[in-house]
Amino acid sequence: MKARITEVGPRDGLQNEPGTIPTETKVRFVDALSEAGYEEIEVSAFVSAERVPQLADAEEVFARIRRRAGTLYSALVPNERGLERALHAKVGKIAVFTAASETFNRKNVNASIQESIERFRPVVEGARNHSIPVRGYVSTAFWCPYEGKIAPERVVDVVQRLQDIGVDEISIGDTIGKAVPVEVMALLDRLLDHLDQDRLVMHFHDTYGTAIANVLASYDRGISAFDASAGGLGGCPFAPGASGNVATEDLIWALTRTGATVPPDLDRVRAASDLLASALGRPLRSRVHEALSGAKPQAR
Ligand code: HMG
Ligand code: MG
Repeated sequence: MKARITEVGPRDGLQNEPGTIPTETKVRFVDALSEAGYEEIEVSAFVSAERVPQLADAEEVFARIRRRAGTLYSALVPNERGLERALHAKVGKIAVFTAASETFNRKNVNASIQESIERFRPVVEGARNHSIPVRGYVSTAFWCPYEGKIAPERVVDVVQRLQDIGVDEISIGDTIGKAVPVEVMALLDRLLDHLDQDRLVMHFHDTYGTAIANVLASYDRGISAFDASAGGLGGCPFAPGASGNVATEDLIWALTRTGATVPPDLDRVRAASDLLASALGRPLRSRVHEALSGAKPQAR
C-alpha cells in the first residue's frame, strides 16, 4: 500500500517553539522538505498573530518558498479572514480545525464546536469555488487535557458534522499524544462505519511514546494517510502537556519496513531536520534519525 504523508513540521512543529524563528529559517526548512518529495507540506497557519505569534509571517513564508511540482502547500484556516489571506498567498489546500472536546475547542479557537463548524461553512464553500481541497481536523479525538478521556461517539459526531459541510478529508488528532493502539482501533472501527478509509488521516503526537504503535495499528485497519513532523517537533500552545508529532523519519522507517511505499526520501527528510536543529541550536527527537546518524550504511 502507498502511504501518504503530510509533513506538518513547519506549522505544528514551529507553532509551539518558544523563541523567535527567522522567516528565512522557515523558508529554508520548507525548501529542504520540498527536496524530499512530499505530496503535502503544511507550511503555516492564517490565524491570529496575537494567539500564535510564531506563525505571524505566514504570508511571507508562502511568498518566498520554492514550490515543487507535485507537492501541495497547505495551511490552517480558522475563519473567512483566514481564507482570504490563504487565497491571497496562493495556498494549494486549506485545513479547518475543530475538536471533539468543547473545553479544548474554546481554549483553542474561542468558540464551541458547533460555532466553529458554522464558521467553516463559508470557508469550505469559498475554497470549493477556487477548487482548493479542504481538510478538517478533529483535535482531542482520544484524550483532552481538560476533559480527560473522549468517547468515540463524540468524535464520530464531529466527523459527521464536518462531512456535512463538505470537507474532503478528516485528520484525527491525538493532540496530547496519549492514545494507545486499542483506543485507536476502537475509534477507527466506529469511524469506518461512517466514512471511507481513504478520507481519513491520522495525526499522532508522541508524548507517551506510543505514536508509532498507533500508526501501525491504523495501517493495519487500512489507513494509509498520516501526519508527521521532521525531527518529531511539534505541540499545541493551547494543549498543556502536548509534545511533538510522530517524527517523519520514524514514520517512514516503520511503514516502509511494514511493506508500504512511502514517498518522502528519508535521507532528505533527515537533512531538513538537521538544518532546523542547527538553526534552533538543539537536537530534535527522532529515534531513527539518531540510529542512522551512528549506523554504518550496511546496518540500514
Ligand atoms: P477570536 O479569539 O474569537 O477573536 O479569534 P476574534 O475573532 O474577535 O479576533 C481577535 C483578533 O484576531 C482580531 O484582531 C481579529 O481581527 C484577529 P484585533 O481586532 O483584536 O486586532 N483575527 C485574525 N487575524 C489574522 N488572521 C485571522 C484572524 N481571525 C481573527 N484568520 C481565532 C478566533 C480562531 C482567529 C483565534 O482564536 C485563533 O487564531 N486561535 C489560534 C488557534 C491555533 O492556531 N491553534 C493551534 C493550531 S490547532 C492544533 O495545533 C491542533 C492540530 O495540530 C491537530 C491536533 O494535534 O490535534 C491541528
Ligand atoms: Mg497537532
